[in-house]
Amino acid sequence: MSPDPLIDDDELDDLERELIGRARGRVLEIGAGRGENFGALPPEVRWQGLEPDAERRAELAQRAREWGHEAEPMDAVAERVPLGEASVDTVIGTYVLCTVADVAAAAREMRRVLVPGGRVLLVEHVRAPRGRVLPLVQRLATPFTVRWCGGCHQDRDPLPALRAAGFAEVEVRHVRVRDRPLLPTPTLLYEGRAPV
Ligand SMILES: C[S@@+](CC[C@H](N)C(=O)[O-])C[C@H]1O[C@@H](n2cnc3c(N)ncnc32)[C@H](O)[C@@H]1O
Repeated sequence: MSPDPLIDDDELDDLERELIGRARGRVLEIGAGRGENFGALPPEVRWQGLEPDAERRAELAQRAREWGHEAEPMDAVAERVPLGEASVDTVIGTYVLCTVADVAAAAREMRRVLVPGGRVLLVEHVRAPRGRVLPLVQRLATPFTVRWCGGCHQDRDPLPALRAAGFAEVEVRHVRVRDRPLLPTPTLLYEGRAPV
Protein backbone atom coordinates (compact mmCIF):
# COMPACT_ATOMS: atom_id res chain seq x y z
CA MET A 1 0.00 0.00 0.00
CA SER A 2 1.44 3.43 -0.94
CA PRO A 3 2.21 5.85 1.91
CA ASP A 4 -0.21 8.64 2.75
CA PRO A 5 0.53 11.93 0.93
CA LEU A 6 3.31 14.01 2.46
CA ILE A 7 2.29 17.67 2.67
CA ASP A 8 3.56 20.85 4.31
CA ASP A 9 1.83 23.20 6.78
CA ASP A 10 0.45 25.52 4.09
CA GLU A 11 -1.18 22.62 2.28
CA LEU A 12 -2.63 21.39 5.58
CA ASP A 13 -4.04 24.88 6.26
CA ASP A 14 -5.82 24.77 2.89
CA LEU A 15 -7.26 21.32 3.57
CA GLU A 16 -8.44 22.40 7.05
CA ARG A 17 -10.10 25.53 5.72
CA GLU A 18 -11.89 23.58 3.02
CA LEU A 19 -13.11 20.97 5.52
CA ILE A 20 -14.26 23.44 8.20
CA GLY A 21 -15.84 25.52 5.43
CA ARG A 22 -18.36 22.68 4.94
CA ALA A 23 -20.04 23.65 8.24
CA ARG A 24 -23.69 24.67 7.91
CA GLY A 25 -26.46 26.03 10.14
CA ARG A 26 -26.05 25.79 13.91
CA VAL A 27 -22.44 24.86 14.59
CA LEU A 28 -20.99 23.46 17.80
CA GLU A 29 -17.20 23.71 18.07
CA ILE A 30 -15.64 21.44 20.69
CA GLY A 31 -12.36 22.48 22.31
CA ALA A 32 -12.45 25.73 20.42
CA GLY A 33 -9.23 27.02 21.99
CA ARG A 34 -8.54 30.63 21.09
CA GLY A 35 -10.84 30.69 18.09
CA GLU A 36 -8.42 29.69 15.36
CA ASN A 37 -11.22 28.34 13.15
CA PHE A 38 -13.40 31.45 12.86
CA GLY A 39 -11.80 32.49 9.59
CA ALA A 40 -12.66 29.16 7.97
CA LEU A 41 -16.35 29.13 8.91
CA PRO A 42 -18.94 30.36 6.40
CA PRO A 43 -20.20 33.76 7.65
CA GLU A 44 -23.84 32.69 7.85
CA VAL A 45 -23.37 29.87 10.41
CA ARG A 46 -24.61 30.25 14.00
CA TRP A 47 -21.55 29.34 16.04
CA GLN A 48 -21.51 28.06 19.59
CA GLY A 49 -18.29 26.85 21.18
CA LEU A 50 -17.15 25.01 24.25
CA GLU A 51 -13.74 25.33 25.83
CA PRO A 52 -12.84 24.10 29.34
CA ASP A 53 -9.70 26.18 29.79
CA ALA A 54 -10.62 29.51 31.39
CA GLU A 55 -7.82 31.57 29.94
CA ARG A 56 -8.40 30.28 26.40
CA ARG A 57 -12.16 30.70 26.82
CA ALA A 58 -11.74 34.40 27.70
CA GLU A 59 -9.73 34.97 24.53
CA LEU A 60 -12.21 32.86 22.56
CA ALA A 61 -15.11 34.99 23.81
CA GLN A 62 -13.33 38.15 22.70
CA ARG A 63 -12.55 36.76 19.25
CA ALA A 64 -16.06 35.33 18.86
CA ARG A 65 -17.47 38.83 19.40
CA GLU A 66 -15.02 40.26 16.86
CA TRP A 67 -16.25 37.69 14.32
CA GLY A 68 -19.87 38.61 15.06
CA HIS A 69 -20.84 35.41 16.92
CA GLU A 70 -23.26 36.23 19.72
CA ALA A 71 -23.17 33.02 21.76
CA GLU A 72 -20.90 33.10 24.80
CA PRO A 73 -18.43 30.15 24.76
CA MET A 74 -19.47 27.42 27.18
CA ASP A 75 -17.34 26.22 30.08
CA ALA A 76 -17.77 22.53 29.27
CA VAL A 77 -16.06 19.40 27.96
CA ALA A 78 -16.79 17.43 24.80
CA GLU A 79 -17.74 14.39 26.89
CA ARG A 80 -20.66 16.27 28.42
CA VAL A 81 -22.13 18.90 26.12
CA PRO A 82 -24.69 21.19 27.76
CA LEU A 83 -26.98 21.20 24.72
CA GLY A 84 -30.12 19.25 23.93
CA GLU A 85 -30.50 16.29 21.62
CA ALA A 86 -30.54 17.09 17.90
CA SER A 87 -29.83 20.76 18.55
CA VAL A 88 -27.02 21.48 16.07
CA ASP A 89 -26.46 20.92 12.35
CA THR A 90 -22.67 20.60 12.42
CA VAL A 91 -20.02 19.73 15.00
CA ILE A 92 -16.46 20.84 14.30
CA GLY A 93 -13.22 20.16 16.17
CA THR A 94 -9.55 20.57 15.38
CA TYR A 95 -6.85 18.84 17.44
CA VAL A 96 -9.20 18.12 20.33
CA LEU A 97 -9.80 14.36 20.43
CA CYS A 98 -6.08 13.90 21.16
CA THR A 99 -6.72 15.68 24.45
CA VAL A 100 -10.16 14.70 25.74
CA ALA A 101 -10.32 12.27 28.66
CA ASP A 102 -12.78 9.91 26.92
CA VAL A 103 -12.91 9.80 23.10
CA ALA A 104 -15.86 7.38 23.02
CA ALA A 105 -17.96 9.63 25.27
CA ALA A 106 -17.06 12.68 23.15
CA ALA A 107 -18.11 10.82 19.98
CA ARG A 108 -21.42 9.79 21.56
CA GLU A 109 -22.09 13.39 22.61
CA MET A 110 -21.42 14.65 19.08
CA ARG A 111 -23.93 12.14 17.78
CA ARG A 112 -26.48 13.06 20.47
CA VAL A 113 -26.45 16.80 19.77
CA LEU A 114 -26.47 16.46 15.96
CA VAL A 115 -29.67 16.45 13.96
CA PRO A 116 -30.19 13.35 11.79
CA GLY A 117 -27.91 13.74 8.78
CA GLY A 118 -25.85 16.41 10.60
CA ARG A 119 -22.14 16.69 9.88
CA VAL A 120 -19.13 16.15 12.06
CA LEU A 121 -15.95 17.75 10.71
CA LEU A 122 -12.68 16.94 12.44
CA VAL A 123 -8.97 17.47 11.94
CA GLU A 124 -6.79 15.43 14.27
CA HIS A 125 -3.22 14.28 14.51
CA VAL A 126 -3.47 10.53 14.95
CA ARG A 127 -1.57 7.33 15.49
CA ALA A 128 0.28 6.40 12.30
CA PRO A 129 -2.11 4.07 10.45
CA ARG A 130 0.77 1.85 9.23
CA GLY A 131 4.45 1.18 9.70
CA ARG A 132 6.33 0.13 12.81
CA VAL A 133 8.74 2.89 13.76
CA LEU A 134 6.40 5.86 13.93
CA PRO A 135 3.67 4.14 16.00
CA LEU A 136 6.37 3.05 18.46
CA VAL A 137 7.82 6.57 18.64
CA GLN A 138 4.32 7.95 19.20
CA ARG A 139 3.62 5.45 21.96
CA LEU A 140 6.88 6.28 23.73
CA ALA A 141 6.34 10.04 23.33
CA THR A 142 2.78 10.06 24.66
CA PRO A 143 3.49 10.00 28.42
CA PHE A 144 5.66 13.09 27.90
CA THR A 145 3.20 14.98 25.70
CA VAL A 146 0.37 14.16 28.11
CA ARG A 147 2.47 15.57 30.95
CA TRP A 148 3.93 18.64 29.22
CA CYS A 149 1.73 19.36 26.20
CA GLY A 150 -1.68 19.89 27.74
CA GLY A 151 -2.79 16.25 27.91
CA CYS A 152 -2.10 15.58 24.22
CA HIS A 153 -1.92 11.90 23.17
CA GLN A 154 0.27 11.19 20.13
CA ASP A 155 -0.94 7.62 19.75
CA ARG A 156 -4.71 7.89 19.39
CA ASP A 157 -6.92 6.72 16.57
CA PRO A 158 -10.38 8.25 16.97
CA LEU A 159 -11.95 6.35 14.05
CA PRO A 160 -13.16 3.31 16.04
CA ALA A 161 -14.98 5.57 18.52
CA LEU A 162 -16.54 7.59 15.69
CA ARG A 163 -17.68 4.39 13.98
CA ALA A 164 -19.05 2.99 17.25
CA ALA A 165 -21.03 6.21 17.75
CA GLY A 166 -22.77 5.46 14.46
CA PHE A 167 -21.40 8.08 12.09
CA ALA A 168 -21.40 7.29 8.40
CA GLU A 169 -18.06 8.16 6.81
CA VAL A 170 -18.25 10.72 4.03
CA GLU A 171 -14.52 11.41 3.95
CA VAL A 172 -11.61 9.81 5.79
CA ARG A 173 -8.39 11.33 4.51
CA HIS A 174 -4.98 10.54 6.00
CA VAL A 175 -1.99 12.76 5.25
CA ARG A 176 1.49 13.09 6.70
CA VAL A 177 2.55 16.62 7.60
CA ARG A 178 6.25 17.52 7.31
CA ASP A 179 7.57 18.39 10.72
CA ARG A 180 11.33 18.83 10.28
CA PRO A 181 13.53 17.75 12.03
CA LEU A 182 10.97 15.34 13.47
CA LEU A 183 9.13 12.54 11.71
CA PRO A 184 6.03 13.57 9.70
CA THR A 185 2.83 13.95 11.73
CA PRO A 186 0.05 11.55 10.67
CA THR A 187 -3.08 13.65 10.38
CA LEU A 188 -6.72 12.75 9.78
CA LEU A 189 -9.29 14.92 8.02
CA TYR A 190 -12.74 13.51 8.66
CA GLU A 191 -16.31 14.17 7.64
CA GLY A 192 -19.01 11.98 9.10
CA ARG A 193 -22.79 12.15 9.04
CA ALA A 194 -25.20 11.32 11.83
CA PRO A 195 -27.64 8.59 10.76
CA VAL A 196 -30.91 9.81 9.27
C1 LIG B 1 -4.53 21.48 20.93
S1 LIG B 1 -5.80 22.52 21.52
C2 LIG B 1 -6.70 22.89 20.03
C3 LIG B 1 -7.47 24.17 20.11
C4 LIG B 1 -8.22 24.57 18.82
N1 LIG B 1 -9.23 23.63 18.49
C5 LIG B 1 -7.27 24.77 17.67
O1 LIG B 1 -7.28 23.99 16.71
O2 LIG B 1 -6.46 25.74 17.74
C6 LIG B 1 -6.89 21.42 22.40
C7 LIG B 1 -8.04 22.16 23.06
O3 LIG B 1 -8.94 21.21 23.64
C8 LIG B 1 -9.33 21.70 24.91
N2 LIG B 1 -9.76 20.55 25.71
C9 LIG B 1 -9.07 19.82 26.61
N3 LIG B 1 -9.84 18.85 27.13
C10 LIG B 1 -11.06 18.97 26.55
C11 LIG B 1 -12.28 18.26 26.67
N4 LIG B 1 -12.40 17.21 27.49
N5 LIG B 1 -13.33 18.66 25.94
C12 LIG B 1 -13.21 19.71 25.08
N6 LIG B 1 -12.07 20.41 24.92
C13 LIG B 1 -11.00 20.05 25.64
C14 LIG B 1 -8.10 22.40 25.44
O4 LIG B 1 -8.40 23.29 26.47
C15 LIG B 1 -7.58 23.07 24.18
O5 LIG B 1 -8.15 24.34 23.99
